[in-house]
Amino acid sequence: MPHLIDIAHLSRDDVWSLLDKAEYYLSAILAKNEITRCHAGVAAANLFFESSTRTSNSFQLAEQRHGMLVLNPNLSYSAMNKGESLEDTLCNLEAMGVRLFVVRHPDDLVCQHLSEQLNFGACLMSAGSGMYHHPTQALLDVLTIRQYKGEFSNLSVAVIGDLKHSRVVRSFISVLLLLGATDIRLISPPEWSLSLSADPFYHTSSMKEGVNQADVIMCLRIQKERFDEHESFLPHHYHQQYGLNDNWLTYAKPNAIVMHPGPVNRAVEITDSVADGPQSVILKQVENGVAVRMAAIDFALGYT
Ligand code: CP
Repeated sequence: MPHLIDIAHLSRDDVWSLLDKAEYYLSAILAKNEITRCHAGVAAANLFFESSTRTSNSFQLAEQRHGMLVLNPNLSYSAMNKGESLEDTLCNLEAMGVRLFVVRHPDDLVCQHLSEQLNFGACLMSAGSGMYHHPTQALLDVLTIRQYKGEFSNLSVAVIGDLKHSRVVRSFISVLLLLGATDIRLISPPEWSLSLSADPFYHTSSMKEGVNQADVIMCLRIQKERFDEHESFLPHHYHQQYGLNDNWLTYAKPNAIVMHPGPVNRAVEITDSVADGPQSVILKQVENGVAVRMAAIDFALGYT
């Protein structure tokens, strides 16, 4: 069965089908329609080695709406405390019948490595891996953009903040490129810029330049937990230069949407007035998360 670890493993058609399926699930959820429990009785295990509110709970809701048997092992009480390896833990859960693993881990490569250890055909989905992959976040982000803007090739997308440590931005720009976006501006302090091979992006440290006439503005969380010992950060100083406020928003198109993957650090990355304002779609992103994860589970478990 296909794993979902990296957006690069998906084709444009895969992404478009996933978004269409997510729209179907979203409509059904909002209309309180019966959802075919196509994965009823299939066991899922959610293994979160980092904190999460949105991803962990929306995966659980998605699994429960599919009628799955859901395990959320308390990892601080698992046998890994007695010396069992993560690989053995995974294989033991798979031997019990788990067929879907949802894994969040600080190491970029762990999901790929774990997916290669599975013996009985279970699939593994990344719920955020290190600084590189957050595929279901990227899918819910582009679903949100599609709902408001319809298509991608003529969009100007500005991403602001801590690009260097962000798995969200890496997955987001991968899926944007796949869907045909060409005008992607990356705005950050120079020390948090993103260096990518074959980089087609516009890099700037100027909010005015980067946000100018943008259709979509994505603010990123500052990932302090991924700083090395030489990196530091003054929230007030950052907010003065890069916090999205009503003034910066006036440079974007009047119908620009404002996004943030969460968790939001208010008065650092964004002001209350913008986060809660009429252009914010932050909670719409969250709403889309359950439907996107239902569609992603179908993709992984082979239901179309
Ligand atoms: N966007 C996101 O991954 O949020 P959580 O850390 O709350 O899951």
